[in-house]
Amino acid sequence: MPSMAQSHNPKGKISFNHNNKPNFARRQKILEQRKSLPIASVEKRLIEEVQKHDILIIVGETGSGKTTQIPQFLFNAGFCRDGKSIGITQPRRVAAVTVAKRVAEECGVELGQKVGYSIRFEDVTSSSTRIKYMTDGLLLREALLDPFLSKYSVIIVDEAHERTVHTDVLLGLLKKVQKVRSKNVEDHTLVGRKRASNGTILEKENTDPGVSVLKQYQGRKLPPLKLIIMSASLDARVFSEYLGGARAVHIQGRQFPVDIFYTVDPQTDYLDSAIVTIFQVIHSNEASGDILVFLTGQEEIESVEKQIQENLKQLREEDRKMITVPIFSSLPSEQQMRVFAPAPPGFRKVILATNIAETSVTIPGIKYVIDPGVVKARSYDPVRGMESLVVVPTSKAQALQRSGRAGREGPGKCFRLYPESEFEKLEDSTKPEIKRCNLSNVILQLKALGVDDVFGFDFIEKPSRAAIKKSVEELILLGALTDDCKLSDPVGCQMARLPLDPIYSKALILASQFNCLEEMLIVVAMLSVDSIFYEPRENQIRRHVEQMGLCISSCGDDTLQFRRCLAAAFFLNAALKQPDGKYRALASGEVVSIHPSSVLFRTKADCIIFNEFVKTSDKYIRNVTIIDGFWLTELAPHYYAKEE
Ligand code: CDP
Ligand code: MG
Repeated sequence: MPSMAQSHNPKGKISFNHNNKPNFARRQKILEQRKSLPIASVEKRLIEEVQKHDILIIVGETGSGKTTQIPQFLFNAGFCRDGKSIGITQPRRVAAVTVAKRVAEECGVELGQKVGYSIRFEDVTSSSTRIKYMTDGLLLREALLDPFLSKYSVIIVDEAHERTVHTDVLLGLLKKVQKVRSKNVEDHTLVGRKRASNGTILEKENTDPGVSVLKQYQGRKLPPLKLIIMSASLDARVFSEYLGGARAVHIQGRQFPVDIFYTVDPQTDYLDSAIVTIFQVIHSNEASGDILVFLTGQEEIESVEKQIQENLKQLREEDRKMITVPIFSSLPSEQQMRVFAPAPPGFRKVILATNIAETSVTIPGIKYVIDPGVVKARSYDPVRGMESLVVVPTSKAQALQRSGRAGREGPGKCFRLYPESEFEKLEDSTKPEIKRCNLSNVILQLKALGVDDVFGFDFIEKPSRAAIKKSVEELILLGALTDDCKLSDPVGCQMARLPLDPIYSKALILASQFNCLEEMLIVVAMLSVDSIFYEPRENQIRRHVEQMGLCISSCGDDTLQFRRCLAAAFFLNAALKQPDGKYRALASGEVVSIHPSSVLFRTKADCIIFNEFVKTSDKYIRNVTIIDGFWLTELAPHYYAKEE
């Protein structure tokens, strides 16, 4: 029997009208939301301030509308005339992506057109993009190719209070770029490039990544650059002082009271305490309203999510009305957006977040906050040259920010999973990242930008001399800098172009000589993303190395060749077996164990190289490869021959 479809023979065309009602209702709702934001009533005044001052600091409570509204105000006020763009930097990728999507929706445009975003390995912009959200690290990379950031009329450094290493470096750079672009500056020291008295930028003699762009500038004047620093922290003094007494304006927030609860006793397992708080303290006793739980990373989030699902199964049908939504950096962007969708009627939404939700991303509907009082942070030991990720107590400022998330739309409650006496012991504010991370990447970038005297760079807060020195030494050992601390050509220049940790860039460059670039691309792509299951970004890095003219070939089954190449790149991370079975890292002298999750956990090999150092209950290394100890003296004689 013929099916309906086959027997039906369409004769004419039918056109359907899309039901626009839901869309219209949503747009109407968004419009109302925008109008009710605290920032909406001060649009005119803010624009006047920006027009009057070349540098403006804007301080406002999280959720007041800074990130989503101010770029639109500027656009409407004509700051993108002449085809220039407004650039907004975020410390976190998630924020750049979710905010760009929201603003595109508010403007009623397709993402990537007027409003777009650009993060490492993902560029959703076009020639018509005028409001561009991006990570702070990405803008630094743009400065390598376009040293005067010529396509921007305004740069907004958002979430400046986070004080990421990229934000700090960016502030120093922007200060200089702005000086150059403001009128009447004849000469400048940004990169040793000259500017004539008529404002024309003269070409620099030698060749570097910026030169081709400089050629385009010849004979053209750049308009001045407006700089806006936005921060959720009330203390704008540090930024104002650094930026020559820049003006700071405060946006009145709307904050409802939040009741703070502490545990009576210290908790041994905060994940367990979080679960108990979700179910026994909130879900079964408290009124409706969503819960935001702060956790330290993806692993914790996934384990708590699983536990919640287990617990829900034990409950009566009518008590199971709870949904969980995770949010962390490496989550694919479609899934990140789930966090903003309201829970189905009658359901409670439990948001499991890293400290992304502290200030970067404002999620509506939260009435309860659960704060274990810890955060995962970078930590660096400049003596040993070891960087690690460690779980540390939050600062008081962070604890306050977190509890504030419960009082955005009405009175809320915050449950701190530690006793009140512990709160008093917390640091007042978080130490800037630049004081606790490996600086090799930063120094390589500064060198590529032409900042020769890295010790003298105008940092908002100077990293220790020891940390700078250690990183300079590391870059010399990797061949990125010459012995007299100049960017080496071509290795240093090539390394600076790759959006990767210097050691990975070096591994790729070496791999092209060892005929195993095909394999190394896969390894480096896997190592440089948070989760390989979400972001296989090997295609993007490949484009970079192709542009650099490196030879992509495969070593096939010759794993020996590949391991030799790894040894040549990661020689600083070599470790030798000790009589007790542990390993001693040669560069730092640290005694470490291979992490139980490693396939080589039970290896008996004498010499290994590793990629990651983690400090939990013990000191562990991860991502381990067996090598032959003799390779080190053969492949890295400048380092190991000295010790013989
Ligand atoms: O930057 P700030 O913390 O001042 O606020 P914002 O990020 O501009 O957020 C303003 C409002 O937009 C908040 O009420 C958010 O709930 C809302 N928003 C949203 O609903 N969805 C997003 N993806 C981003 C913001
Ligand atoms: Mg914001």
